[in-house]
Amino acid sequence: MARKTLRVSKIKEGTVIDHVTSGYALDVLKILGIAGRWDGVVTIAMNVPSQKLGRKDIVKVEGRELSAEEVNKIALIAPSATINIIRGYKVVNKQRVQIPAVIKGTIKCANPACISNSNEPVQPTFYVKCREPLILECHYCGRLMEKSDVLEQFLAKASSA
Ligand code: CTP
Ligand code: ZN
Repeated sequence: MARKTLRVSKIKEGTVIDHVTSGYALDVLKILGIAGRWDGVVTIAMNVPSQKLGRKDIVKVEGRELSAEEVNKIALIAPSATINIIRGYKVVNKQRVQIPAVIKGTIKCANPACISNSNEPVQPTFYVKCREPLILECHYCGRLMEKSDVLEQFLAKASSA
């Protein structure tokens, strides 16, 4: 087996989001709200060769760990991602992201007429029909949503935050 070459340097403290679907590194950054307005060190590698995925992106964020909500969002757009927590240069925790069978709260239904978008006290709820490519079905109106719909929402939120 060919020796692995290190393309970007190791980090001392923070989070490495590895095995990101290639092409989605910048969306991961936007979900984290650090596109532009974050003063920590961020390293991105795109289209790196990967045994598992063929090609992958990597995002390294120094001095920061992720919230459960952020990890859940990343799962939807990069379902093969691993979240590595780094302390003192060592990987102290490695977690593969997971898409649950039912998603409540994280996303809104794209159908404006859906009851989950009214003033009724109902929590948006989606069934995961397929993880890759992502297909979600609204519990209330049956509307199907895909990754681009979900991403659009996350990015709209990130820019208004
Ligand atoms: N990493 C880093 N800084 C460190 C330690 C690790 O940037 N101080 C990065 C590595 O470059 C790699 C990821 O964190 O992209 C996970 O590290 P490691 O578990 O050592 O690598 P692998 O065994 O290749 O991971 P996996 O089995 O998840 O593919
Ligand atoms: Zn709906």
